[in-house]
Amino acid sequence: MLNHKDHFHGSDLEKIEEIYHIKKEDITSFSANINPLGISETLKNSLARHLDVIQTYPDREYRELRSCIASYCGASPEQIIVGNGSTELISLVISAIHPKKALILGPSYSEYEREITMNGGHTLYYPLKESENFRMDVEDFCAHLTDDPDMIVLCNPNNPTSTAVNEDDMRRILDAGLQHGIFVMIDETYVEFTDAADRISSVPLAGYYTNLAVLRGTSKFFAAPGLRLGYAVTGSRDLRRHISERQDPWTISSLAEIAGRLMFRDREYIRKTHDLIASERSRLYGELSSWDTVAVYEPKANFMLVKILKEDVNADLLFDHCIRKGLMIRNCSTFPFLTNRFFRFCFMKPEDNDKLIRTITEILPPQIG
Ligand SMILES: Cc1ncc(COP(=O)(O)O)c(C=O)c1O
Repeated sequence: MLNHKDHFHGSDLEKIEEIYHIKKEDITSFSANINPLGISETLKNSLARHLDVIQTYPDREYRELRSCIASYCGASPEQIIVGNGSTELISLVISAIHPKKALILGPSYSEYEREITMNGGHTLYYPLKESENFRMDVEDFCAHLTDDPDMIVLCNPNNPTSTAVNEDDMRRILDAGLQHGIFVMIDETYVEFTDAADRISSVPLAGYYTNLAVLRGTSKFFAAPGLRLGYAVTGSRDLRRHISERQDPWTISSLAEIAGRLMFRDREYIRKTHDLIASERSRLYGELSSWDTVAVYEPKANFMLVKILKEDVNADLLFDHCIRKGLMIRNCSTFPFLTNRFFRFCFMKPEDNDKLIRTITEILPPQIG
């Protein structure tokens, strides 16, 4: 058991290696929220044949890539900005809007607050209530909106709660935003894992709202975090101009550019991912819902938030138990509004998920009755 205040993020495998002396190759990360299929064979083979592209600079305007992304997500090419992972776009959009006060969900992904603070802004939180299973009460949210914040940042589906707001509700938020002069940034890193991306995604709204930027990446769904390829969709010409004036040229390598053009067309891989995640999500949610030692919140994305109900167990203890078996879950105690009773895990391959469930039951044995 760790006796220091170490907490690990999904990508902290080197830190785990150092502290627990477990080789990173021997760890199954239930913490990084990455597609368990790994990168597609089709992509691997085609990319190898295109290695020569690194001999040339990519197109500075990334015309072909933007056109592929546009047809993949249902936007028009001029609405697309490409970036070095969604992380670069989070940073670029926040620095372009330069909010004095930004409103974000609590709990949510920590990078937003870091960027807001680095840009000299202040973060306000709209707390998601445990009593409402961490679902956002959109009516209440809009009713309490004032002219005070100049930016709203939403993660949809939200990390770590795995809850989602649908497109109709998002319209209400965007309308309220327009009314109060607020820009809305929506991070859709996990939307493609949902059962109803067409009802959840706000990409189609980019044609109607100029106070909106939707962000997406390829790290999670296409299992390519090392590629560093993300994109934003926005109908705001001002935002596009502002970003293109400040973004360094060629922040996406020619290899990432070609990979993007190949992966967005890989229908077979996209279908297989949907099938796997949908079936594991309903199986594992069903299983854990029947336990009396945990509370679960209905997951919409490829991961699930869980609360430990057993008095003498917390997430530090559970993390420690699982990591010693090479299974890395996410201790959620570092998220604002959560405590060390919460953990998150993503859906991996069925056999790995079974192993995790067996390991968790060793610490949190449910009373079946
Ligand atoms: C909600 C969310 N947005 C963005 C990112 C970063 O993604 P990328 O690798 O595309 O920069 C993460 C990574 O964990 C995330 O959870």
